[in-house]
Amino acid sequence: MDRIRIVGGRRLEGTIPISGAKNATLPLMIASLLTEDTLILDNVPRLADVVLLQRILGNHGVDVMVSGKRAGETADHGQTLHISAARIVDTTAPYELVSRMRASFWVLAPLVARMGQARVSMPGGCAIGTRPVDLLIMAIERLGARIEIDGGYVVATAPKGLRGGEICFPKITVGGTHTALMAAALADGSTVIENAAREPEIVDVADCLNKMGARISGAGTSRIIIEGVARLGGARHSVLPDRIETGTYAMAVAMAGGDILLQHARPELLQAALDVLGGTGVSVTATNAGIRVARNGGDLRPVEVATAPFPAFPTDLQAQLMALMTRAHGTSHIVETVFENRFMHVQELARLGARIQLDGERATIEGVERLKGAQVMATDLRASVSLVIAALAAEGETIVNRVYHLDRGFERLEEKLGRCGAAIERLTG
Ligand code: UD1
Repeated sequence: MDRIRIVGGRRLEGTIPISGAKNATLPLMIASLLTEDTLILDNVPRLADVVLLQRILGNHGVDVMVSGKRAGETADHGQTLHISAARIVDTTAPYELVSRMRASFWVLAPLVARMGQARVSMPGGCAIGTRPVDLLIMAIERLGARIEIDGGYVVATAPKGLRGGEICFPKITVGGTHTALMAAALADGSTVIENAAREPEIVDVADCLNKMGARISGAGTSRIIIEGVARLGGARHSVLPDRIETGTYAMAVAMAGGDILLQHARPELLQAALDVLGGTGVSVTATNAGIRVARNGGDLRPVEVATAPFPAFPTDLQAQLMALMTRAHGTSHIVETVFENRFMHVQELARLGARIQLDGERATIEGVERLKGAQVMATDLRASVSLVIAALAAEGETIVNRVYHLDRGFERLEEKLGRCGAAIERLTG
């Protein structure tokens, strides 16, 4: 298993290109199931989750062609995928595949919408709380599908197709909103989604569906209206930049010190996080090329932050902010309101010398003078990158074990940081 070795104490200077968003790419790829025509996606990041989803879609009969690099392009350009679900050969998504990536459960909606049936394994347990799928199932039921649970599988049937309806989410859910959007796009009649998630990735998916011929309005607000259409066609769409990758590198610079341009990043996608960073004393400037983040000496000020759905501070940046606050001058509080148990990184940060106390959903972080390198273990995607951030400021050598979690969501992380002066390398095998 690969590991990452980091020697802390180097400043970061230069440019980090921000990739296309993982959390938009996955639902966009899944949306290809809604049409027999080809969906072309540009700016797709090179990530393990994307490769795994190609395999999962392949199982349903979907062809995915990855365009090679064009002349003059480097790995900094995203890939282009040509995805064709001309013929769906299997409407079952088996346990072996769904259990490896939760978001693959989302195939349920387009399969039942287009084929009238789907059989999708319930996702397995997950390191960050229970993460149920009850609201995703509720959304499809509201559009007329019959649902049965059979041997660990959700079996959805709608032999005469789905029909529009009203879906009111009691809790904001990103996956539930994606599910509702995809199902309603091909339903007969109109659908209203109340208390919809407002994440930028929802807007990106809705934009792409509209290019495919869907009639969706209100994406980005908590009330989305969809006029169902009989069929969708092909389209070409470029994935929006990854706001979580952006925020992660912004915190890395804040931690290590230095001056970095986060190229292609868009401030409006993570304003709450940038405001928090600004409050710590880090300089954050929007430019035409992206976002510039700089810290030249000076103490980091502590923060009071609660995670919540967009536009508030994202749960996917909670671990990274916590890593940063281990070196603040004073005591910070971070409340995690989206996922229970999303504090797996705390005990690993403690191995580097961090002082963090947990009380239910609230973490108290007492800033320390110095962190010291150690062996640590990545437990999930965002937790593992928080260890990298801490290691950038730790004295001596840190080895992050189990980095396959990082490869699921961060493209060439060690290369992007290494080019800016970090002492970081991958140890293979
Ligand atoms: C997505 C993101 C993930 C991010 C999360 C919250 C992708 C691929 N993943 O995950 O990175 O951390 O949004 O921003 O886009 N819930 C239920 N019942 C359900 C569904 C969800 O109770 O049926 C709860 C969850 O347990 C959680 C909350 O709703 O407490 C939000 O989860 P949700 O927004 O659905 O997260 P995901 O879509 O799985």
